[in-house]
Amino acid sequence: MAGINPFKPNYPVTPGMFVGRTDELDRLEAQLIQTRAGNPANFIITGERGIGKSSLLMYLKFVAEGEIPIGEANVKFLVVDTDIDESTTQLGLVQKIELGIRKQLGQSDPARVFLAEVWGFLQRIEAAGFKIAPLQKGQADELLLEEFSYSLARLAERLCGQDVPQAPFATHHDGILILIDEADNASKGLQLGSFLKLLMERLHRRECSRVMIGLAGLPELPRVLMTSHPSAIRLFDELHLGRLSTEEVSRFITLALEEAEQANEIATEMTEPARQFLVLMSEGYPHFIQQFGYSAFAADVDNSIDEEDAHRGAFGPLGAMELIGERYYRDAFYNKVQKDSYRQVLRIMADQLDGWVTKPQIRARFKGKTSILDNAIHALRERGIILSKVGEKGVYRLQHKGFALWMKMYTTDPSALQRSLEIANGEAPDEGEARDSTAPSG
Ligand SMILES: Nc1ncnc2c1ncn2[C@@H]1O[C@H](COP(=O)(O)OP(=O)(O)OP(=O)(O)O)[C@@H](O)[C@H]1O
Ligand SMILES: [Mg+2]
Repeated sequence: MAGINPFKPNYPVTPGMFVGRTDELDRLEAQLIQTRAGNPANFIITGERGIGKSSLLMYLKFVAEGEIPIGEANVKFLVVDTDIDESTTQLGLVQKIELGIRKQLGQSDPARVFLAEVWGFLQRIEAAGFKIAPLQKGQADELLLEEFSYSLARLAERLCGQDVPQAPFATHHDGILILIDEADNASKGLQLGSFLKLLMERLHRRECSRVMIGLAGLPELPRVLMTSHPSAIRLFDELHLGRLSTEEVSRFITLALEEAEQANEIATEMTEPARQFLVLMSEGYPHFIQQFGYSAFAADVDNSIDEEDAHRGAFGPLGAMELIGERYYRDAFYNKVQKDSYRQVLRIMADQLDGWVTKPQIRARFKGKTSILDNAIHALRERGIILSKVGEKGVYRLQHKGFALWMKMYTTDPSALQRSLEIANGEAPDEGEARDSTAPSG
């Protein structure tokens, strides 16, 4: 029986097993250095579900706190990490940030006294909150912003203003980094874009130049920010996360096996075909490699993961494919798409994974009237399940490759699936329909 499983499909990856994202980290580290020099930079990380946004934030946190060096040197930021959900209000967000700061800095009595005084406004606003009429809410939000920016600037001044530690704090900091994960959840009422824009402007006005803000969220995050304030997006450097490379995935597998050996005090080997299968199935999606790896490791009984273990882990009952489908795709396929004709279109398109497919290509295989096909395409586009190619009429693709894979599991046998994956990855000659070579990958 396999021991402690080193693959963790449901948690951000620990820095020791983090792979890739070198360009992104270079940029983020440069931003930390800029902020330390009093030239604050802000960023947003966007990407699909499970692409590794939270993991990158976590890695950056270690860098910013000085646990992981930048080149030869270390920086020392105070890092506050939080997230938001649909019900988060401006006051709630400020409270979460305050709590994060208090937890980290409030170790000594004098520090607690200082923080209580700087953030005293929160109690006053909370107490007043119950009495605020809807009409006065705008004023209350403005007051909150004013007080918050003032407090943050005061704290930054004390924490990072001089080169030496200033009472009541024992350590000098290079800056304050505020990380907000799941930021695409921001409700209309939260007005995240304008809140952050106004916050930054106020900080600037108070000559506070050591606060850096980083957000992470799904690809619609820029739109969420822009809806709230058209120019909010200009204040952020956007980093869009794509897939990991084949080498990075393979390296991750190596790191995971090393970790397993340490934890279990016995080595688990992996045959080359099993490794290739996992790399192929994961297609560079971090979440997929964690899940396929986890399931393969769990299926192994003799400390040697071979192709059969990997297959059983992937396609067996409660295997990786099924779990991934439950987590990501079931709702889209059965609830958001209610007609069989729509599902037929999706299945046809799934043969190209997330590659571009033309309407005539779909029509050639669609069993039904053209008008029904038209309706299906229209509905699938409306619901964001398929995407249209900009500037080209009648060319579509599935939003997610993983979704295609999952669907194919229900319509194709595993060997055909593996073959189409190989074709999509350019690793096997395509004997059938040519895949559009201009299709973006991922
Ligand atoms: N750079 C990486 N190296 C190794 N594993 C990674 C990396 N990035 C992410 N993972 C793994 O992929 C899975 C998904 O990662 P993570 O939770 O960070 O993604 P996410 O984009 O925040 O997802 P969601 O949109 O669901 O919040 C996790 O199991 C995580 O351990
Ligand atoms: Mg996440």
